This record gives sequence, C-alpha cells and structure tokens, in this order.
Amino acid sequence: MVPWQRLSLLPMLLLLSPLLLLPWSSSAICILDEEGDNCFCNFSTPEPNWKSIQMCLSSVEVEIHGGGHNLDIFLPKGGLADPRQAADLLRSLRLRRLKIKDAQVPAPLLYQLLQALTYTRTQVLALEDLGVSHPPLQPRSPSNPALALKALKVNRVSVAGEDNLMAAILTWLKPGLKTLSLTDSGLSNVPCSDLGTFKELSSLDLSDNPGIGESGLTAAFCLKELQELRDLALRNTSLQSLGGVCGALEAMGVKVQRLDISYNDLRDTSSTQCTWPPTLTSLNLSHAKLKCVPKSLPQKLQQLVLSHNLLTKQPILDQVTELVLEGNPFTQSSAFTRSRREETSEDCGGVPSRGSRPFVGSPLAFQVSGTAAFMLLCGVRGFA
Ligand SMILES: *[C@@H]1O[C@H](CO)[C@@H](O)[C@H](O)[C@H]1NC(C)=O
Ligand SMILES: *[C@@H]1O[C@H](CO)[C@@H](O)[C@H](O)[C@H]1NC(C)=O
Ligand SMILES: *[C@@H]1O[C@H](CO)[C@@H](O)[C@H](O)[C@H]1NC(C)=O
Repeated sequence: MVPWQRLSLLPMLLLLSPLLLLPWSSSAICILDEEGDNCFCNFSTPEPNWKSIQMCLSSVEVEIHGGGHNLDIFLPKGGLADPRQAADLLRSLRLRRLKIKDAQVPAPLLYQLLQALTYTRTQVLALEDLGVSHPPLQPRSPSNPALALKALKVNRVSVAGEDNLMAAILTWLKPGLKTLSLTDSGLSNVPCSDLGTFKELSSLDLSDNPGIGESGLTAAFCLKELQELRDLALRNTSLQSLGGVCGALEAMGVKVQRLDISYNDLRDTSSTQCTWPPTLTSLNLSHAKLKCVPKSLPQKLQQLVLSHNLLTKQPILDQVTELVLEGNPFTQSSAFTRSRREETSEDCGGVPSRGSRPFVGSPLAFQVSGTAAFMLLCGVRGFA
C-alpha cells in the first residue's frame, strides 16, 4: 500500500497547524517557497513518495507534475469517499490555484477532485497532459455544489475511448468563469452548447484545435452571448481567410479587443466586405503565410503582429503603434532599406473596420500550479 493511502484526518489537521506553516526544508520531490505560498512537486521518479505532497497542504498555489504515473493506485477497492465528509477541512485550505500535469487519472478520481475542490476557495484550475482512464467522467450531479472558478485551463487532456470530457468538466463550473482555455484538446467545433452559460467570460482560448476550422467559427453562435469577451485566441485552428474570420466576428457582434489567429494559413479573400469589431485593437497574424499586408485592417488597430510571414517588403502602416515584423524575408535581406518607403507587392485586399478601445496590456497570465490535488484526491478517503 502506498503510504499516502494511509493518511487520515489527524495528520492532515496537524499539518494545518500554524506551527507547521513555517517553511520546510525542501524534499527531493516537493519544493515550498519561503513564504509557504507556492508549492511544486515533481513525481517523475519511478517510485515517488506521494506523501511528500503533504508539504503543499497549506499552500496557495500548488503545481503537481505526475511524471506520467497512473493514479489508479489511488482507486480504493471499496469505492471513493464522499468529499462532503471532509468539507470543513477542505474549506480551511488556502488553496487558490492548482495545476495538475502529466499523469493518467481515472475518471472517478477526477470526479472526486472536482467534488472536493467545490469546498475549497480554488479560483484557478489547470489540467495539462492528462490521460483520463476509466471513462466516462460523470457530469456533476445536482446535489453537488458547483465550482466557483475564475479560470479553467485544459491543455492536452485526452480520454480513453469516446467521451465528451469538456462538457462533463464544464458542468462543474459556476457561471462566473472569466477565463477558459481548452487547447490542444481535439475539439472539432467551438463547444457552444457548453459555453453559453458563461456569460461573464472575458478570455477564451481554443488554440491548437485544428478540427475547428472556419466553418466551426462561423457556426459558433454562442459568441453572441459572450458580450464580455475581450481576448479570443484561435491559434492553429485551420482558419483560412481573414475575410472569413472578420465575417464571423461581425455576424456574432463580438466585442473582442485582442484577437490571436496566428498559426493559421490565411489567404485573403477580400471580395466580401466586412467590418471588424470596432473594439479590436490588437491582431496577431504571426505564422500565417501572408505574402502581403491585408489592406483593410481594424480601424483602431494599435498592435499588429506580422512576424514569421512571407512579406518581401517593409509595410507602411501609420495607424499601428506596435508593428512586429521579425522573421519575414525582407527583414533578412533589406536591413538597409528602411528609408525606401515601398508599397506592399501584392494587394491582399481586406475588410474595413472601426475600432475604439485602447489596447489593454498582457493577456491573463495563467501560471497555475498544483499539488494539493493528490492530497484532495486521496486524502479525503481518510474520512470514509
Ligand atoms: C522532474 O524531474 C525529472 C527527473 O526526475 C526531470 O527530468 C524533469 O525536468 C523535472 N520536471 C520539472 C518540471 O522540473
Ligand atoms: C496544431 O495543433 C496540432 C494538434 O494539436 C498539433 O499537432 C500541431 O503541431 C499544431 N501546429 C502548430 C504549428 O503548432
Ligand atoms: C503572436 O503570436 C505568436 C505565435 O503564436 C506568439 O509567439 C506571439 O507571442 C504573439 N504576440 C503577441 C503580441 O501576442
């Protein structure tokens, strides 16, 4: 039996004692910072001591790297305990940000984690490089409270067999979610049926889902509902034309300020005229195989990233205050032609637009980490 499995209420409470909030000397597996706020665990060794995770019990931010281990070992034969029995303890945790990365997680354990987290004050949850075994993940039952997350980041989480994992996870969230990232998750469309409830969403990242495509964006009518949406990232989603993207955004009446559609092979079919969202001030067209600068850009555009395209001439874009051009053919060949005010060689055409809002700084940084997960996953069993 793994030592962690024997962990019960008493040691957990002892760990919560203020005396033990003092910085611990670092173990090989988990590292706690001076203030005891951030805890990082790396269980990459062949037979890690899972109990090391106790060190993170009082942390605010916890990041767990599971080293690819299969967490089946934490599935007890008699079934998992109900975290409700540990509600008071869970409520006392300081945990706000949790990241779990690189492990095989049985769906029932993931369910128990989500259930346990509802009793904590966790605001940010990141799940990355996880394989979910023993599917399906059951949706939240109405008797369970929902999770009041501000941000959920799911990156490269896959399920054995067919299962709508995203839909099941999203049933756990309260509507107040602000940031959602479902990247590299094999999505074949914008998951509108699941997104419609998150009316306060301000940042949505669906990058690295090539299955979405332009038709997926055009059909994403739920974007109409997301009136608070300011950041939209659709990197590497098989978008094909700037006009198509503009048309879809116009049809949905989105009010995004920052749009990242880098890593899409964009041609520009400019025959259809379209108005970019008037709010749009930052557009990322990096790695888009563009041979020329699209002619009609958002009118109030302040930041335009055209790095790593196929531009052969220095573009002139007076209204843009921040223009990123590195990695284009002309930057290699014409270092001394800055004074030659050349027009672009091809007419990309484009779409007229009006913009209005000032550019607002960096996108929501989402540095989450997590370690108390295993604790939450496994520790509550002690109360059964
Ligand atoms: C985790 O530890 C392994 C070696 O055990 C190391 O190769 C890996 O880089 C570590 N990961 C992180 C994120 O520190
Ligand atoms: C786009 O996403 C797919 C699916 O995850 C990935 O295999 C591919 O490497 C990504 N392409 C780029 C340029 O990042
Ligand atoms: C634009 O997109 C590229 C590629 O995805 C990325 O490396 C870069 O950081 C982005 N730039 C901005 C300003 O967002």
